[in-house]
Amino acid sequence: MAERDPAWKVLPKPSHPHDSARLHVAGEARYADDLTEPADMLHLAFGQSSEARARIVSMDLSEVRASPGVVAVYTAADIPGANDVSPVAGDDRLLADGEVITHGQAVFLVAATSQRAARIAARLGRIAYEPLPAALTVAEAQAAGSHIEPAQRMARGDAPAALDAAPHRLSGRFAMGGQDHFYLEGQVSVATPGEDGQVHVLCSTQHPSEVQHLVAHMLHVSSADVTVEVRRMGGAFGGKETQAALFAAAAALVASKTGRPAKFRVDRDDDMVMTGKRHPFDVAYEVGFDDAGRLLGLSLHLASACGATVDLSPAINDRAMFHSDNCYFLPDVEVISERLKTNTVSATAFRGFGGPQGMLAIERVIDDVAMALGRDPLDVRVLNLYGPGRETTPYAMTVADNVAPQIIARLRTTSRYDERAKAIEAFNAANPVLKKGIALTPVKFGISFTTTHLNQAGALIHVYADGSIQVNHGGTEMGQGLYTKVARVVADVFAVPMEIIRITATRTDKVPNTSATAASSGADLNGMAAHNAAMTIRDRLTDFLARTYSLEESEVHFTPGGVIVGAETLDFAQVARKAHIGRVSLSSTGYYATPGIEYDRSVFRGRPFYYFAYGAAVSEVVIDTLTGEHKVLAVDIIHDVGRSLNPVIDKGQIEGGFIQGQGWLTTEELVWDAKGRLLTHSPATYKIPTASDRPAHFTVTLWDGENVEPTINRSKAVGEPPFMLAISVFSALNRAVAATVPGKRALPQLDAPCTPERILKAIAAFSA
Ligand code: MTE
Ligand code: MOS
Repeated sequence: MAERDPAWKVLPKPSHPHDSARLHVAGEARYADDLTEPADMLHLAFGQSSEARARIVSMDLSEVRASPGVVAVYTAADIPGANDVSPVAGDDRLLADGEVITHGQAVFLVAATSQRAARIAARLGRIAYEPLPAALTVAEAQAAGSHIEPAQRMARGDAPAALDAAPHRLSGRFAMGGQDHFYLEGQVSVATPGEDGQVHVLCSTQHPSEVQHLVAHMLHVSSADVTVEVRRMGGAFGGKETQAALFAAAAALVASKTGRPAKFRVDRDDDMVMTGKRHPFDVAYEVGFDDAGRLLGLSLHLASACGATVDLSPAINDRAMFHSDNCYFLPDVEVISERLKTNTVSATAFRGFGGPQGMLAIERVIDDVAMALGRDPLDVRVLNLYGPGRETTPYAMTVADNVAPQIIARLRTTSRYDERAKAIEAFNAANPVLKKGIALTPVKFGISFTTTHLNQAGALIHVYADGSIQVNHGGTEMGQGLYTKVARVVADVFAVPMEIIRITATRTDKVPNTSATAASSGADLNGMAAHNAAMTIRDRLTDFLARTYSLEESEVHFTPGGVIVGAETLDFAQVARKAHIGRVSLSSTGYYATPGIEYDRSVFRGRPFYYFAYGAAVSEVVIDTLTGEHKVLAVDIIHDVGRSLNPVIDKGQIEGGFIQGQGWLTTEELVWDAKGRLLTHSPATYKIPTASDRPAHFTVTLWDGENVEPTINRSKAVGEPPFMLAISVFSALNRAVAATVPGKRALPQLDAPCTPERILKAIAAFSA
């Protein structure tokens, strides 16, 4: 279709503000909790498990039922259909049935006339448990042999032989923590009963279709009876890819049983306790290398705590494996990925989807090799990059458009990396208390869902007779600017201003069978689907105008100045009106499926990704060796978004992604106690980055290039890749700690997140 279309070329797109930016800052953007409540609205709360793992012996809910304002109380026995809110494996219960597998798990559901009444009543349940042995950490689950699925292996060549033959060899281990999504808008769903068993669910979810299907199964009705709608989310970050279903199902259950609308707006603390987080990983490695630091053999062991259910853990851990090469050619390599089942809340999607964990592992290996050799880690990185004759990944995909070496070289120059590294050496020599570190780390991130069939999207476009245009597609808006990007694509097809495009809420009754808005592919997939829908209508209009004016189709042009029809120029509204009177259909669906991707999971071979997005960051940090505190002083980023669909929105994604990654690796620490209770369940104990953590010097430059693949506008996905640029902060902190013992050729033992305690411990251990 693209060939026929002179207007749709690879053009630099002007920046356009987020379509809701004005509403966001004015507090006028409406979220699910903002809609006017009908008088008979019920509010919900869960009675939660007090045990990490236990058999439920008995349940007495009489005091719950008697509590003021309570209208209904439900247990698993009240669910008409499937007691299942899981994405794949069928193992996530809406309400516990017979046993509990995590602390905080939903055991019973209270519907009351106010949220407060529901929450008070939910604490009055008397549940007797028989505790069962629980595994809470990777190590405990390993000891108990508790896994969600068998370990996976990805390998090339003969890693053990290469390790044996290598001139140098070292081994190491380290741990990285999980991360709470801390979306500003918490989980929320509002279910409204319709006639004849139907239900409408307004939900803060990245995956309306999955919520629809799960609600339908749970109520034992058809998908056609359930409509799920999402106008926007106040942040999601992967935390609403599967985890919104629990609350949507609870609201739908109450609406269906009581015939009254029901809202579940989850309290922040409960949200943090009950919803899944990023997977924490324990990493062990053995690496063989030469005098220069070239990696010859690598054996990498990744072990993650997946929580009590499967959720998306298989795909997330697969992605960790696929990113444990990052930008580096690993000739002989073996990656083993162990997926532990722990009695903690099921870990889930979080920006990067396992990629950050795999990438942090290899970056740490490189730092270790560099420090052991006393070389600048950047030199060792550059030496190991993919390049001519070294462009095949361990999973046998060719790295086709490897711009990482160029991006790194450019950033090295523009950020004055070498000069600053020298200045930092001098600073560290002169300062006994403060120590600085600098690091430049690259990113290569694979774009596509690794579950191949998810790479599809649909759109629905209506042109009204007054020339206004409504755009709908399967993607959801969580602040990332997807709606604005897709609107721009459609506006360009008709060569009309953005203002005449009305973007409408994502609804399962408009576009069916959609994938989650995830894997950063929202604009790639939905942008192309919307483009295809718009092109269908434009082709009809072109055909109609050519017939009406007795012209060739090539004499009809949609231009910003109007629609040129032979010698005449009509405005778009005139064309729409004429076409309506001429009985031309002005509505169309559009569809897109990513071409060319497939891989064989049984051997980890193939092309799981359509293309890669690249970037690099330099971070400079300073630590206080007396308190363990640190500051990120300066960050410079060059990031590849192909031919940007919207430069300001892309820059916002890069800045936001970086800072969120910085939070993961520095201040955001999740702590569970010995009973499996999350202790860090509010902003009082869990610290996300704030404005003051933003580096004082922070620059973001878009790499000037275009996607080698024919994506929409030759752009590249941007949602997740920049998150991993923050690995430069971790690397720089390690160097700052290493500077406490000048000349020592070793990497400090520093786990993530680098809290003051960890930095102090690492300093003490390093000098011991
Ligand atoms: N940006 C904002 N503002 N809010 C979010 O919740 N989620 C991230 C990223 N950027 C997120 C965000 C995640 S995890 C993904 S997968 C992508 O956006 C999803 O949107 P996209 O596919 O349209 O990029
Ligand atoms: Mo993003 S973790 O793929 O929702």
